[in-house]
Amino acid sequence: MNETAGGQIDTVMQEARVFPPPPEFSAQARIKSLEEYRAIYDRAKRDPESFWAEFAREELHWFEPFTKVLEWNEPYANWFVGGKTNVSYNCLDRHLETARRHKAALVWEGEPGDQRTLTYAQLHREVCRFANVLKELGVGAGDRVSIYMPMVPELAIAMLACARIGAVHSVIFAGFSAEAIADRNHDAEAKLQITADGGWRRGKVLPLKATVDEALEKSPTVQKCIVLRRVGNEVSMKEGRDYWWHELMDQASADCPAEPLDSEHPLFILYTSGSTGKPKGIRHTTAGYNLYVKKTFEWVFDYRDEDLFWCTADCGWITGHSYIVYGPLSAGASVMMYEGAPNWPAEDRFWRIIEQYGVNTLYTAPTAIRAFIKWGDEHVEKHDLSSLRLLGTVGEGINPEAWMWYHEKIGGGRCPIVDTWWQTETGGIMMSPLPGATPTKPGSCTKPLPGILPRIVDAHGNDVPVNQGGWLVIAHPWPGMLRGIWGDDERYVEQYWSQVPRCYLTGDNARIDEDGYYWIMGRIDDVINVSGHRLSTIEVESALVSHEAVAEAAAVGRPDEIKGQAIAVFVVLKDAEPSDELRNELRQHVRKEIGALAQPDDIRFTNALPKTRSGKIMRRLLRDIASGKETVGDTSTLEDYTVLAKLRGDEE
Ligand code: WTA
Repeated sequence: MNETAGGQIDTVMQEARVFPPPPEFSAQARIKSLEEYRAIYDRAKRDPESFWAEFAREELHWFEPFTKVLEWNEPYANWFVGGKTNVSYNCLDRHLETARRHKAALVWEGEPGDQRTLTYAQLHREVCRFANVLKELGVGAGDRVSIYMPMVPELAIAMLACARIGAVHSVIFAGFSAEAIADRNHDAEAKLQITADGGWRRGKVLPLKATVDEALEKSPTVQKCIVLRRVGNEVSMKEGRDYWWHELMDQASADCPAEPLDSEHPLFILYTSGSTGKPKGIRHTTAGYNLYVKKTFEWVFDYRDEDLFWCTADCGWITGHSYIVYGPLSAGASVMMYEGAPNWPAEDRFWRIIEQYGVNTLYTAPTAIRAFIKWGDEHVEKHDLSSLRLLGTVGEGINPEAWMWYHEKIGGGRCPIVDTWWQTETGGIMMSPLPGATPTKPGSCTKPLPGILPRIVDAHGNDVPVNQGGWLVIAHPWPGMLRGIWGDDERYVEQYWSQVPRCYLTGDNARIDEDGYYWIMGRIDDVINVSGHRLSTIEVESALVSHEAVAEAAAVGRPDEIKGQAIAVFVVLKDAEPSDELRNELRQHVRKEIGALAQPDDIRFTNALPKTRSGKIMRRLLRDIASGKETVGDTSTLEDYTVLAKLRGDEE
């Protein structure tokens, strides 16, 4: 651990404003007061197992009932042992016998303005047909399916079809490079690839199939590839490997009963960055995840049947998995889904969508909110946003100014804001206000949800005093928790379960204030958060060092007004001369190795990196330099810091 280890963090943020839930909102909410929340929370705390079991019995369909609620062999959890269910059944079939049968499940808008609505009955039919397509191509329970698609309904259809037959999906965000896809396909030993010819992004075509072609050259386990025609761009189809989605679907029957699957059958793998260069395949399973995302969706978004819920994330991230697809659909919600950029064709696209469709809940990222602020209020003011009743944020902390803008400009001062803290690993939201119950403080994710027992501890595992920062850990298993890292038990144990006895280590720092509110204070490892996306600095460094001109590189995060953090890199060259051209080339190189989201914002050339006596790169110093806190005139003098550091006796 680095210098921000638990117990030594000073808090600089003081936020005194408190916003009680509007009484009209509370009156109609599922959970109406703090007292009611406390009662549920205490009940769950006293007996988490019967708390979850009751919901599980009532709210999931069981082909066979479970016989035991939790089997906990730390750090391995089995929830709802012996039960058989199916996530796709819970998301679709369950609603077909109810008034939701012909209700909109997905309300979709493409970037060019095309629109489609799929009712639960229609979505069910498409999912069944595509599940038959998968079976026809030899995919069965347990096989891994890699999905690299734009935000179109077929992405959700592909996920649900996998879930229906027990195939394990690995969705890869469509901004990742061919290298990144190949790495993930290799790690998961994916058997089948699903993609599209292209996707729309700011009026341009993202050539997804071309990227996949390159990835598949290096993905020997992938035998077949299904290609959706979305854009109509020219693509090459490899005989015997590539198939058009529509041709396969034409012949597929709509009869495909959901496979009864064990509660712990793997549902998906989702790769995320950790503190080493290799992304971790976070493994989630069937029943516990399903129940957790359903309940948290209902609690946090106070979901009502007449609502149109819009989460603006991409299904390539956990937020899209849990709060576009699995949570809302198992709750029978109508979900807005949008394909493209928020500023295409103009900066008012989101507000236009909210007005046109009458969106009721908007769940987005602080980085987007900061961009909206920068683009100017006039884009917002053009539109009637009175349909909104609730706002949410996710992915990073929200600065109080952005919170206030969101509250006033988007929420018209009347919508509660739920600042939701959670992670790919946690499966669903862990801490958040309940909008009808919890008074909010801008910048705080407030309190844990029922069944979640967080603690803030020092490096010895002792609870730290009020308002003192420390490591955020979770003290009891919960149904949505990750079940492991794909193919790497050792890393799972080491990373999450070895630092604090009997606790899950989140990797975040936090403090609790005098009212028991949680304030997240950033990561304790070398993970940075760029526009709400997790990136490991080591991944960026490895990408740079793979370039022939680079001898050594260090990447750090520095504050950025829009992205939250930007990536600054310090590069030592072998014998090439520093130049703007080389700088561009390195940027492109990282883009090729990882994807556009990892492209460095600042590249500084230096003769040497400042290191401690034990040879560790002095990241804290580099962070200070990158953020302008410590100024260096001539980059070549960076190595002097090593000398300075030695003199000062610094060790990180
Ligand atoms: C950060 C996204 C402060 C945190 C769902 C966490 C947040 C990481 C918040 C997980 C929040 C997420 N306030 N920080 N409301 N939400 N984070 O896996 O550092 O992409 O550990 O999951 O994002 O990112 P991930």
